[in-house]
Amino acid sequence: MSTPEILVRDLHKSFGANEVLRGIDLEVRRGEVVCVIGPSGSGKSTLLRCVNLLEEPSRGQVLVGGTELTDPDVDIDAARRRIGMVFQQFNLFPHLTVTENLTLPQRRVLKRDRASAARIAAENLQRVGLAEKADAYPAALSGGQQQRVAIARALAMGPEVMLFDEPTSALDPELVGDVLAVMRMLADEGMTMMVVTHEMTFAREVADRVVFMDGGVVVEDGTPEQVIGDPGHERTRHFLSRLLDPAMAEMEQESPDRADR
Ligand SMILES: Nc1ncnc2c1ncn2[C@@H]1O[C@H](COP(=O)(O)OP(=O)(O)O)[C@@H](O)[C@H]1O
Ligand SMILES: [Mg+2]
Repeated sequence: MSTPEILVRDLHKSFGANEVLRGIDLEVRRGEVVCVIGPSGSGKSTLLRCVNLLEEPSRGQVLVGGTELTDPDVDIDAARRRIGMVFQQFNLFPHLTVTENLTLPQRRVLKRDRASAARIAAENLQRVGLAEKADAYPAALSGGQQQRVAIARALAMGPEVMLFDEPTSALDPELVGDVLAVMRMLADEGMTMMVVTHEMTFAREVADRVVFMDGGVVVEDGTPEQVIGDPGHERTRHFLSRLLDPAMAEMEQESPDRADR
């Protein structure tokens, strides 16, 4: 079997006395889409941020494309260029046009000349269906369009893997679909993706694997059919039932049958 594109081994992360990640082991193979689900505060964002070293792990290893990012001698800027990240907040520069938002990091980080950066920006705006917004400012776009620009900006850097942290959580419901459609296209094209999301339909249909985290550990890791369709742990069932029906979960919480807690 080929080396995994992302490999996380015994990853720990503490903030002061708060141990947020308590020994995560995870791998994502080339072309795989792994959705990470779990309650708020379970460490999902911290995990993604450790994978591209926006946070420094307290212990353990992170390898991307075979390069150990946690090696003190690694060229972290070079390693990070292989990783695109999309956040819940789009983080576009409001004073720059859509095209300028895409060309700036290419020119600064990759030292591309103006013409190549503009060409690659145009290609990637086309990919996310926003070619006609090239000269618009972010404020003139809907949240869904801004998030697609943020995705195009990440893609323009030519990443080998893409990390998404709740990319649709800040969007009005009617705008979620367009963003998910772009992510689905990337998955179909064979992009390696780690996606933190509460969109269970997306996870079921697009993910090769679903990872359920709670309390800084991976509780379940399997196919969507296993983890969402037939979870093996009470904690997973409880989380899913709350997503699907918050009122029902309240009632469940009051029942004494909480074997694995
Ligand atoms: N930079 C930080 N400094 C201190 N505590 C943090 C920081 N980032 C996250 N945490 C804490 O880590 C825990 C997990 O947070 P997070 O990874 O954001 O969870 P999730 O994304 O699953 O909601 C929370 O208790 C949060 O307060
Ligand atoms: Mg989070």
